[in-house]
Amino acid sequence: MKVEPAVALDGHLAVPGDKSISHRALLIGAVCDGETRVRGFGRSGDTESTLDAVRALGVQVEDDGDELVVQGAGLRGLRPAELDCGNAGTLARLVCGLLAFQDGAFTLTGDESLSRRPMGRIADPLARMGAHVETTDGTLPVRIEGGPLAGITYELPVASAQVKSAVLLAALGASGATTVLEPAPTRDHTELMLQSAGASVVRRPASVTVEPANGLRLPDVFVPGDFSSAAPFVVAATLIPGSRITVHDVGLNPRRTGLLDVLERMGGRIGVLNRRRAGNELYGDLEIEHTELDATVITAEEVPRLIDELPLFALAAAFAHGQSRVTGAHELRMKESDRVAAVVDALRAIGAHAQARPDGFTVQGVPTRPRGGRVDARGDHRVAMLGAVAGLVSRDGVEIEGAETVAISFPGFFDLLDQLAQR
Ligand code: S3P
Repeated sequence: MKVEPAVALDGHLAVPGDKSISHRALLIGAVCDGETRVRGFGRSGDTESTLDAVRALGVQVEDDGDELVVQGAGLRGLRPAELDCGNAGTLARLVCGLLAFQDGAFTLTGDESLSRRPMGRIADPLARMGAHVETTDGTLPVRIEGGPLAGITYELPVASAQVKSAVLLAALGASGATTVLEPAPTRDHTELMLQSAGASVVRRPASVTVEPANGLRLPDVFVPGDFSSAAPFVVAATLIPGSRITVHDVGLNPRRTGLLDVLERMGGRIGVLNRRRAGNELYGDLEIEHTELDATVITAEEVPRLIDELPLFALAAAFAHGQSRVTGAHELRMKESDRVAAVVDALRAIGAHAQARPDGFTVQGVPTRPRGGRVDARGDHRVAMLGAVAGLVSRDGVEIEGAETVAISFPGFFDLLDQLAQR
């Protein structure tokens, strides 16, 4: 796939429903009593894995394309199964929290990339709660035998919403309260949805406590557009002179929108309009115009708020005046690919200047279009999208090896890019 340069990005767009919220609506809906209606479900390779998984666990889900109706099986109603989690790390981590207190044995597998990613990070706290979780040298396949759990206080060794969520979901079925302490604020969709479902959730600045539940009921869920899927368009419009786009109905949970704060600090021009709320989640519209950018530094505290957007930040930094740096992002090496290596190689491949660090990277900005070239997506959807935006902002275009991997989060990505790109 080759993405040719664009002279500008222009128009209005909406992106598929938020992937993190879509996974959670299915998983939490699966253990509720009664029906959960999910509107705006984000269809993608990853969320299809979760749909297949909850069905395999014996949960009925009606699917008319736009709306899903989950017939909850009750808190302890999931049935033993073998689950193929595909590429979906969120599914693999979160579902373990629910399985830990069900009756019976469960096996989880995943694709090649997911099978390399760490599962010990959820097996450890779940084992401390009393769960029987066996990993394969810390990775998938994982075998879980459900049983009685005790509440714990757990200090996350890494800032990870997936690990936090696995423990908070297990807390629903434990015998006492569970508290998770976070080293930095990570996305809180699980806490917000559990509150909507009637769970007892107490939130403090650096920790969250969940009490055991008797039964949950989740009213209708409206899933706003995925900020992470909007981000490639936000960055492209910021970088290409003459651009002006509006992204409608996109999720604006403050723990997800770190990229907006970072771009604004760099001089970006992004307007937020029509702020509103669906359940406990904020969403609204974004208006983006081109501007020149200045370099900036991102440190550990801020990293979780733009963890999935750091590859796109790197591209923005390649256009900024000065040297930008990301530190405290060792977690980037644990994603669908080693994203530190993938990002640095991609930037170099298009003629930009980047250097890897153990926990991040530095980028030397040059405020003109880079040459372009060939980017290997390494089977990672976010790297493929980085390659695509790099193509738009380059002089000669970018060829992307393995571009089809965008379907993991955003199957219609290239069509939408084509509609907005002025050539
Ligand atoms: C996610 C959390 C993040 C993020 C991932 C989705 C979630 O992972 O990178 O794409 O839905 O909870 P970590 O929390 O493990 O960093």
